[in-house]
Amino acid sequence: MSIISIIAAVAENNAIGKQQQLLCYLPLDLKRFKAITMGKAIVMGRKTFESLPNGALPKRKNVILTSLHEEGYVDSFVCQSLEEALTLCEKEEEVFIIGGASVYTQAMPMANKLYLTRIHHAFEDADTFFPEINFAEWKEVEKEVFEADEKHAYAFTFYTYERL
Ligand SMILES: NC(=O)c1ccc[n+]([C@@H]2O[C@H](COP(=O)([O-])OP(=O)(O)OC[C@H]3O[C@@H](n4cnc5c(N)ncnc54)[C@H](OP(=O)(O)O)[C@@H]3O)[C@@H](O)[C@H]2O)c1
Repeated sequence: MSIISIIAAVAENNAIGKQQQLLCYLPLDLKRFKAITMGKAIVMGRKTFESLPNGALPKRKNVILTSLHEEGYVDSFVCQSLEEALTLCEKEEEVFIIGGASVYTQAMPMANKLYLTRIHHAFEDADTFFPEINFAEWKEVEKEVFEADEKHAYAFTFYTYERL
């Protein structure tokens, strides 16, 4: 069975998006996302896929969840349920759930690992939120703190959690 990992950038108020976009641009977070997911399977909702500026993310097995459309997705697999997506990826060592909110919510009960970037700001105009995390179920295994700087408007912390 694959390790099921969730990867997300989450603000202090659990916000993850607004108007179908990310909350802010944090180059080091994108770099971490790329390094962690490169060569792996990534599973995402149709709205998150549509928010990607250049379509499928290169050198990764892109799996899109949708109930509506099965055609027109280039360099991607399309599945109509999370179970179907996980079956498609069952030979993968680790499968990454990359959002958005609806897919995070469905995957949370079955996830083994959580790669969380906590953005130290509350985005009051956000419209999309990460599900509540029950931290009693998770053990922090990595933490790296970054201050705001000229390239990063907000301070942030990389966390990795494993399910207890
Ligand atoms: N901060 C972060 O780390 C992060 C990461 C990713 C996304 N985001 C943000 O999250 C927002 C998007 O999240 P969202 O919750 O609105 O949308 P989403 O989860 O990306 O996509 C929702 C769509 O996925 C499909 N879907 C979800 N579960 C399904 C299932 N079990 N079976 C079949 N289809 C399924 C449905 O598509 P159909 O309607 O086609 O059936 C549904 O409308 C954006 O603002 C994005 O920028 C943030």
